[in-house]
Amino acid sequence: MRTVRVAGDPPYPIDIGPGLLRDGARLAGHARGRHALLLSDDHVAPLYAEAVAAALREARPDLRLAVHVMPAGESHKTLASFAAAIDALAALGATRDATVYALGGGVVGDLAGFAAACWMRGIDCVQLPTTLLAMVDSSVGGKTAVDIPRGKNLVGAFHPPRAVIADTTTLHTLPARELRAGLAEVVKYGALGDPLFFAWLEAERDALLAGEDRALAEAIARSCEHKAAIVGRDPLEQGERALLNLGHTFGHAIEAEQGYAGDGRDALVHGEAVAVGMVLAARLSTTLGLAPAADTARLERLLHAFDLPTRIPAGLDPEALLARMRLDKKNLAGRLRLVLWRGIGQAEIVPDADESRVLDLLRDA
Ligand code: NAD
Ligand code: GLY
Repeated sequence: MRTVRVAGDPPYPIDIGPGLLRDGARLAGHARGRHALLLSDDHVAPLYAEAVAAALREARPDLRLAVHVMPAGESHKTLASFAAAIDALAALGATRDATVYALGGGVVGDLAGFAAACWMRGIDCVQLPTTLLAMVDSSVGGKTAVDIPRGKNLVGAFHPPRAVIADTTTLHTLPARELRAGLAEVVKYGALGDPLFFAWLEAERDALLAGEDRALAEAIARSCEHKAAIVGRDPLEQGERALLNLGHTFGHAIEAEQGYAGDGRDALVHGEAVAVGMVLAARLSTTLGLAPAADTARLERLLHAFDLPTRIPAGLDPEALLARMRLDKKNLAGRLRLVLWRGIGQAEIVPDADESRVLDLLRDA
């Protein structure tokens, strides 16, 4: 097992390793009070919820534990699902020292974290990520949110978890498409700030794509180290944390424009949308004279090797995508604020991107 520590008030650990969901003492060690809500979705709960609940009950027989299962998928990361989670906390009689355990991918993690942030103005949340994407990104750093029809993650709160426990064995049941989607966020860390990690991903691409435990464990730990370092320095995204959004302004616009339907076959899931978004950010950087085209080509090659999309899906209206981008949370004073790059490993924030150049790119892509 490896542990990455995230600085903060309070600091918290990210434990990464096989079999951790069966470690009742580790799971229960983070429950301060006598109430716990295990929140999961209807894909993950049948696989893992019983084992987690049993481990918790064995370690803490006095714990009043309820299990709440939401429907799986981005289209359910809604205010309605949030309200149902809040209802479950109320039915449990959860007091201020209660703990929410978020067992699932980023959808469950974001929604459970937001419910924990709001219940009685804030209770503990322990993240138990079961997708690669959640292990390397969404479970760490305390961004919690739900989507609304007008935009992604527009309602939420910063609420860091009390702990992250990533059981890498759960990746064995993850659909191949979701593993690849998680690799997009792994590539992001190399692309935004670590050319050596990017080169390592190129070298290990076959092992990663095959889901080899050794390669995945290394990718998860290195990604978590990057994320921990950045959110430790800038927990509330007042500066460099925005770099973690490389590709996200474009990606979120695509997801929202597709009606968060990525769990269906024809629309992109979050990681896939981020892959397209990173390529768009790289292409725009080249158009603006910031970065060499060769680096964009290298990024595209790696994403293709992971079988990830790099083009905007057919049928999306460029003007509508741009309108979505105007509602991005990074924007200030009505200006489009984008994360672009000067090449692999050198992302930077461009505070006032020229909308006409962005629109040209969207039309062209
Ligand atoms: P997800 O939660 O929808 O999970 C993907 C699919 O895999 C779902 O159908 C889920 O039920 C299933 N699944 C999960 N674990 C499984 C397992 N071990 N075995 C079998 N099936 C499993 O999607 P995701 O990619 O994990 O997360 C995407 C979400 O994360 C988006 O909403 C995005 O906005 C959010 N996100 C948040 C942050 C953050 O900082 N808070 C960062 C990145 C992404
Ligand atoms: N995933 C972007 C962030 O955590 O800031």
